[in-house]
This record gives sequence, structure tokens and C-alpha cells, in this order.
Amino acid sequence: MAFAPLPVVALAVCAVAVVRAAYPPQDVPSSWPHDYPGKPHGDFSPAWQDYFEVKERLPNATWPISRNFAGNLPVNRAGHPNDTLFFWAFEKEPGSLTAHADKRSIEPWGIWLNGGPGSSSLIGLTSENGPIHINSDFSASQNNFSWDRLADYVWVDQPVGVGFSTADSAGYVHDEDEMGRDFMGFLFNLVKVFPSLKTRPLYLTGESYAGTYIPYIMKTYFGLADPPVKIAKFAIGDGTVGSAEVYELVPTVNTIETYPQLVGYDPATFEYFREQEHLCGYDLNLTYPGCGHFPTLKFIPGQGVAAQSMDSASRLNPATRARRQQKLRNVVQLAKRASQGKRRDEALVQKRDLSGRANGTIDPWYGCDIYDEMIDYAVNFSLPWSIKHDDIFGFDIYQVPDALDPEANMDASAFFNDPRTRAALHAPTSKNWQGTILYPFLGDPTSEGNDPMVIQNTTFGGIQGFTRRPSTPWFDDNGERGGIVHQERNWTYVLIEGAGHLVPYTNPLRGFILLRDFILGNNQTGLVTNSSGTVSVVGGESSSLAVDAIPGQLGIYVGSFSTQSTYTYPSATIAAWSNYIVTATATVITPATAITATTTATAISVPSTKAIDGSSSNNGTSHTNAAIHMDRKVNGLLSSLTVALLLFCITWL
Ligand SMILES: *[C@@H]1O[C@H](CO)[C@@H](O)[C@H](O)[C@H]1NC(C)=O
Ligand SMILES: *[C@@H]1O[C@H](CO)[C@@H](O)[C@H](O)[C@H]1NC(C)=O
Ligand SMILES: *[C@@H]1O[C@H](CO)[C@@H](O)[C@H](O)[C@H]1NC(C)=O
Ligand SMILES: *[C@@H]1O[C@H](CO)[C@@H](O)[C@H](O)[C@H]1NC(C)=O
Ligand SMILES: *[C@@H]1O[C@H](CO)[C@@H](O)[C@H](O)[C@H]1NC(C)=O
Ligand SMILES: *[C@@H]1O[C@H](CO)[C@@H](O)[C@H](O)[C@H]1NC(C)=O
Ligand SMILES: *[C@@H]1O[C@H](CO)[C@@H](O)[C@H](O)[C@H]1NC(C)=O
Ligand SMILES: *[C@@H]1O[C@H](CO)[C@@H](O)[C@H](O)[C@H]1NC(C)=O
Ligand SMILES: *[C@@H]1O[C@H](CO)[C@@H](O)[C@H](O)[C@H]1NC(C)=O
Ligand SMILES: *[C@@H]1O[C@H](CO)[C@@H](O)[C@H](O)[C@H]1NC(C)=O
Ligand SMILES: *[C@@H]1O[C@H](CO)[C@@H](O)[C@H](O)[C@H]1NC(C)=O
Repeated sequence: MAFAPLPVVALAVCAVAVVRAAYPPQDVPSSWPHDYPGKPHGDFSPAWQDYFEVKERLPNATWPISRNFAGNLPVNRAGHPNDTLFFWAFEKEPGSLTAHADKRSIEPWGIWLNGGPGSSSLIGLTSENGPIHINSDFSASQNNFSWDRLADYVWVDQPVGVGFSTADSAGYVHDEDEMGRDFMGFLFNLVKVFPSLKTRPLYLTGESYAGTYIPYIMKTYFGLADPPVKIAKFAIGDGTVGSAEVYELVPTVNTIETYPQLVGYDPATFEYFREQEHLCGYDLNLTYPGCGHFPTLKFIPGQGVAAQSMDSASRLNPATRARRQQKLRNVVQLAKRASQGKRRDEALVQKRDLSGRANGTIDPWYGCDIYDEMIDYAVNFSLPWSIKHDDIFGFDIYQVPDALDPEANMDASAFFNDPRTRAALHAPTSKNWQGTILYPFLGDPTSEGNDPMVIQNTTFGGIQGFTRRPSTPWFDDNGERGGIVHQERNWTYVLIEGAGHLVPYTNPLRGFILLRDFILGNNQTGLVTNSSGTVSVVGGESSSLAVDAIPGQLGIYVGSFSTQSTYTYPSATIAAWSNYIVTATATVITPATAITATTTATAISVPSTKAIDGSSSNNGTSHTNAAIHMDRKVNGLLSSLTVALLLFCITWL
């Protein structure tokens, strides 16, 4: 079967080539693993478990933590013995990780990957889904929704050189294929230390730019005659799957529909953004089932973006340069978020008043960068966002309703660089831990996901896209609606309401349920079945969810470092908007969407055969017996989780 990420592959390769040209590596540091007392000699084996076990108490972590293991393992890349990945693995129950080969053979285990590129998965461990939560005051607390409560779970820093993983200065990965090979090399060594992992079902999960890593890891995996592990599913949360236009620019209007606060509930501004979207060709209409492929979206740069920088990238064409700027801006923003206090490069922040805007033409300043234009509009003209500090942008790309300025700290570097932590974790001493580095070779953009568009443009199980619009609700453990779930032909799409880009950070309970029920579990809710021609959907469908956008919350968080209050527009303003938007979008039969308030997850089951059928471009023409619903689009902006028998995605980090 084909799966969504495939089309991404070629695009990402092009992007990497561009970035490599634009960013010749310079002054890239070398690092190497540290040998701690008691390190065994010889090849990896279960004898190394005792060496890797974390035995000393970690600073600030005063509660009992399940047995865990950490350290660096080589990726087996020829000529680069110091190229290693750092792992931190937690047992679900005593002895589960150290089981003998062929024991516990049906018990799942999981791997978590953050994105970036260049972000440490220990950010996820300490801020999202791991057992030790580093709070915004840098203290530590227990996370009751830690994913290792459901399965043995391993957080892995990768590619080489990221977080506590090490690389010699010439050994950073050059492209995504090398990343995939490195990852498999690491796994070969990991299963020598923990032999049961070789045959137990592996659930490969990650978010954000891991939406690029994971498809390449799967590509490498399927290419191996004797892979080191048995991958059962992969899940990508709000991943960078699809082109940058698809995952970053296309969701803009849906984001505004989800959070009309971004335009101050102003219909004229909304219409303006809708027009820009149309002029740029980003108003793709989803159909169920899919009907032919979407065109390749183009990016038209504006003067404001193209004029920004004439550095080493100036030899590249303007569109590429503009895109590079956008990517860089995203990375800068990401770095800011990951490591507080970093000064945002003001040269990259361009603002423009929209009041004199040209109607009927693409805005000359922004071009088709409607996402950036939306943020500029919000911070300049919409309450409560603002630019109060020179260096802090009161807009959180991870979570629209967060207008904290400055942002809450999300920085575990004091914890990881403490000598006690470092020694306990067998971490390298040749480098300090950083949440995010600008990866010297990889450098693709990251932002929001738009899973439904990728799904509808992909042929899997012989059919293009989903045959029905996702609109089945799922419910969390409090009995509240958690979002939408839809499952067809081994691909599960989960949209999570009330989650930002970083699902387990923003909504730990729903992130936990996602793993429990839809990734590890096989909850059938949303499954489309066909019994002798009678098509039905487990859990039914809700027309109120088959809409352009599920409205997000009304209150926007304001405060300094933490929420001091919420800002809500006057009820009359909101009511006027509600009346307007019903009419404005009534002519279009809308899809299940939304994501800013929500996060989508897509999971795909790994087929039993090793073939990824990249050429299964069935045009869908033989499936016209089912009703075709015209949908405007289903978006996932700042958060989506791709999960299904394979995947869970959360975007960035
Ligand atoms: C986590 O669970 C423990 C035990 O049930 C409880 O005492 C503690 O308050 C919980 N922590 C949080 C942050 O909810
Ligand atoms: C690998 O690390 C060792 C220190 O452990 C260092 O002496 C050596 O030069 C490094 N090799 C490379 C290729 O950087
Ligand atoms: C999507 O549908 C709308 C409304 O019918 C239409 O204006 C628009 O051109 C369509 N988009 C594309 C890319 O065809
Ligand atoms: C849709 O898929 C086709 C064929 O793979 C590809 O050329 C096109 O760029 C895709 N369009 C979008 C918007 O993803
Ligand atoms: C947006 O706000 C920034 C910071 O206050 C300011 O520099 C910029 O000129 C504003 N842009 C517009 C169009 O008002
Ligand atoms: C475009 O239309 C808006 C109203 O929708 C108006 O405020 C604005 O002045 C117009 N721009 C121009 C250049 O006419
Ligand atoms: C321990 O917590 C305190 C806050 O309670 C914090 O200031 C300190 O940096 C933390 N230490 C480590 C090593 O994380
Ligand atoms: C899983 O399925 C059951 C019905 O079999 C349902 O009651 C439950 O709510 C589902 N879990 C979720 C998260 O939807
Ligand atoms: C879904 O996965 C199962 C188990 O691997 C496989 O038997 C089945 O053929 C797959 N279905 C499709 C439509 O690919
Ligand atoms: C349902 O199955 C029947 C065969 O039993 C097939 O003809 C029909 O196309 C299927 N419908 C859908 C929507 O898959
Ligand atoms: C898809 O469409 C093209 C052009 O319309 C046609 O040549 C091709 O045979 C079709 N493929 C399938 C699998 O129907």
C-alpha cells in the first residue's frame, strides 16, 4: 500500500539540496560519547543493561520513577565511530524492557521523536509525554499521563548531533536517507542490549518535523531484508507531511475560522484572507472519495519577503530565497520557544498595514505568504496579541489561544546540564544539551500539518483518499468530545480538540487516550466498514462535525510567563461573527476540520509485505459509485497528530 509520506520524499530531497547550498556547514562542533565507570568491553549485549541503567537519583525528581536506562549507542556509520544517538528508555513494569529474546513477544514498545529539525526528543520527554515534567519554574514534577505507563517507551535524540546525541564535525547527516540509515544502525545496537525489542511490535511515534523523519525511516526499514525491529504502526502528530504550501499556507483561512480572534472577528478581513487564498490557488476543495490529484501548489513571493536578505542565498532564485526566509523565521521562532530569551532576529519580522490593501490582486508585500500575513495582522491589529517586547513575539505558533508575553518557559537545559543528571544518564561531557540546534545540513521548514489534504491526495489500499468525510466524534475519559476520528484501509485520522501543535503538552489526557486507544489500541470508532455493499461507520457521523472548522475556545490566555487572565471579545461581536460565518461558508459543503484548537493524528498500519507501493496512482475513477461530497477543505493548523496503525503526529519540536 502507498502511504501519505511518499510524495513528500522527492520534495524533501529537493529542499535539502537547496538548504545545503544555502548553508555550507561551518564551525560545526564535534562531540563524542563519554565512557563511564563499569562500561563493558566488546559488542553490545544484555550485559550492557546494567551499565545503562539509571541508578542515581535525578535532581528535583523526588517521586518513584520506573526503572530506566540511558546512554549513547553508535549508528554504525563507517568512518564515524563518534556518531551516536542518545536514548532514554523507561520500563512499563519491572523487567519488561529487560525481558529475554522472544519473551513478551506481543507486548508493544514505543519510540518518540521530536522534530525541528534539530530538536531533542528530551524536550518531548520533559514537556510532553515523558514521566518527568520540567515546569516553567524549572522544578520537576510527575506526569500522570506519561506514555511509558502504557508501554515500554524510548525517547531518542536524533539525527546525530542533536540533544545528547553526538557527531564528529563531518558526521552530521547530509540528507534524510542517511538519517534513516543511521536510525536503523542505532536500532541494531539497541536490540542487542534489549533483545526482546527485536521481535516485539514497535510503535514509532513523533510529531512535527518527525513527519519528515518517520517516512524516511520507514523507507529505510522497508528496504532492509532483515530489519532490526518489527514496526507495527507509525503515528505522526501535526507533521511536516506534504509540501510547505500544503502544511503551512493552505490551513491559514481555516485557522482564522477556528480562531476569528486573529482578525478581531472582522468579516472584511476574513474575506480579504479568503480572497488571497483563492488568488494563490490555495483554496483546494476536498472530495470524498478523492477525485484526481490536486495540482502542485505554487508559492508567489512578495516584495516584503524577497527583499529581506541578500546573503549567501542570493544566488538562488527569489522564490527559493523567500521560502528560505520563511523557513528560517520558523526555525528562529522555534528556537525561541525551545530556549527562552533568544533574541528574535528583527530583520526577519516584517509588518505591513493591511488597510490600504489592493483588492482582487495578490498582496504585493506578502505575496502568497498568507500565514505570515495572518500573524502580522494578529499582532498589529487584533486583541489581545501585541508586540510589547522587542524580542518576544506575543503569538504562539504552537497554540493560537496562547498570547502570553513573554511565553512560559519550556527549557530543561538546567536539568540536563546539571552534572548529577548528566552522570546518571551516562550523557556526553563533550557537549552541553540544547533543546534545539539549527541542524547544519537538514533544514527544511516546519509548521502546521494539513493531514486531510495529504490523505485525499494519496492512494492507499488501491483507492485515493478517504471515501467519506471524517466526522465521527470520539470521547475522552471525562465523557467530553475529544475531536474526530476516521479510519479507512489502515489509515487512522484523529483530530484532537483543545490541543495545540504539541498535543501531550497542551492536552496530556487526550494525548494519552490517543496512544492508548488509537495507536496501541485498535478502537474501531470512526472505522468505515462495507458489508456486502452496505457502507457504515462505527460510531456514526455528525453533521455538526462535517464543517470547515470547529470553533476554538473564546478566551485567549494573557499574562507574563503564565496565564493571568483570559481575553474574550464582547459577546455582541462574537454573535455578529457567528451570524456572518454561517452565511459566508454556507454555500460550501464543508469538511471536518479545524485544527488550531485541535490536533489531528494520522496513523497507518504497516502492511505485512515490505512493499511501499509508490506507484499506485489509481485515479479513483473506478470508485464513483459512492456519493462525492464536495468539501472546501479540512485543515490542521497548529496541531495534528497522524496516527493509525502507524502514526501519530504533532508538528514541530
Ligand atoms: C498524579 O497522581 C498521583 C497519584 O494518583 C496524585 O497524587 C497526584 O496529585 C497526581 N499529579 C497530578 C499533577 O495530577
Ligand atoms: C572521537 O572521539 C574521541 C574522544 O573520545 C576523539 O579522540 C576522536 O578524535 C574522535 N574522532 C573523530 C573522528 O572525531
Ligand atoms: C473551490 O471551490 C470554490 C467554491 O466553489 C471555488 O471558488 C474555488 O475556485 C475552488 N478551488 C479550486 C482550487 O478549484
Ligand atoms: C497531489 O499529488 C500529486 C501527485 O503525486 C502531486 O504532483 C501534487 O503536488 C499533489 N498536490 C498537493 C497539493 O499536495
Ligand atoms: C506592527 O507592529 C510592529 C511593532 O509594533 C511595528 O513595528 C509595525 O510597524 C506594525 N505594522 C503595521 C503595519 O502597523
Ligand atoms: C479593499 O476593500 C476594503 C473593504 O473590503 C477597503 O477597506 C479597502 O480600502 C479596499 N482597498 C482598496 C485599495 O480599495
Ligand atoms: C530544581 O528546581 C529548582 C526550582 O524549584 C530550579 O531552580 C533548579 O534549577 C532545578 N534544578 C535542576 C538541576 O533542574
Ligand atoms: C473506543 O470504543 C468504544 C466503543 O467500542 C467507545 O465507547 C470509546 O469511547 C472509544 N474510545 C474513544 C477514545 O473513542
Ligand atoms: C490492513 O492491514 C492488515 C494487517 O496488516 C492487512 O491484512 C490488510 O490487507 C490491510 N488493508 C489494506 C486495505 O491495506
Ligand atoms: C462495498 O463493497 C462492495 C462489494 O461488496 C463494492 O462493490 C463497493 O464498491 C464497496 N463500496 C465502497 C464505498 O467501498
Ligand atoms: C489515470 O488517468 C490517466 C489519464 O487520465 C490514465 O492514462 C491512466 O490509465 C489512469 N490510471 C488508472 C489506474 O486508472
